[in-house]
Amino acid sequence: MLPPLVLRAEALAAERGFARSCTREVGRLLHLLAASRGRERVAELGTGYGVGSAWIVSALRPQTPFFTAELDPELGAAASELFRDDPNVHVLVGDWRDTLPLEAPFDLLFFDAAKQEPENAELALGLLAPGGIALLDDLTPGRTGSDPVREFWLADERVAAVELLTAPSEAAILAVRL
Ligand SMILES: C[S@@+](CC[C@H](N)C(=O)[O-])C[C@H]1O[C@@H](n2cnc3c(N)ncnc32)[C@H](O)[C@@H]1O
Repeated sequence: MLPPLVLRAEALAAERGFARSCTREVGRLLHLLAASRGRERVAELGTGYGVGSAWIVSALRPQTPFFTAELDPELGAAASELFRDDPNVHVLVGDWRDTLPLEAPFDLLFFDAAKQEPENAELALGLLAPGGIALLDDLTPGRTGSDPVREFWLADERVAAVELLTAPSEAAILAVRL
């Protein structure tokens, strides 16, 4: 059984030909993380058409503020419309580096935009509360050579992190700010 909001977001993304939404496996992981205790303020970096947001919002306790940032105004407008009946969902149109620091810190962060740029890792870590958890998806299992995402999140002493497979062809990192 999939949350109705997720089905609506997936249909919207399909209708607009957007192929970068999170997978259902990652969505279920987001859903689990959002449902767990202590999620009082939650954010996503990169809204797309709202699929990841829908998985998160469908599991948050009532009244939990959720912020999602999207650079592309067209996508931001579509996601705003999708969540228009939920006053706890805030779709912020603009660069997450400008919009989300004003709303931080967060207990849960889905880092899904511009995560390959090393300076952004530092900024994203700064958005997390101590004990807060970040999820980064879309990693290639067994990738060789330089990988700024793994190099930062799996090595930094300020986080406890693990890489896991979400599907045979996709890996993700879960990282907690110490
Ligand atoms: C992988 S897609 C997001 C998918 C979405 N999280 C989901 O699961 O459905 C990445 C999105 O980030 C947006 N984006 C890229 N750079 C950004 C930035 N600096 N600030 C905010 N959004 C950004 C892109 O326009 C794109 O819609």
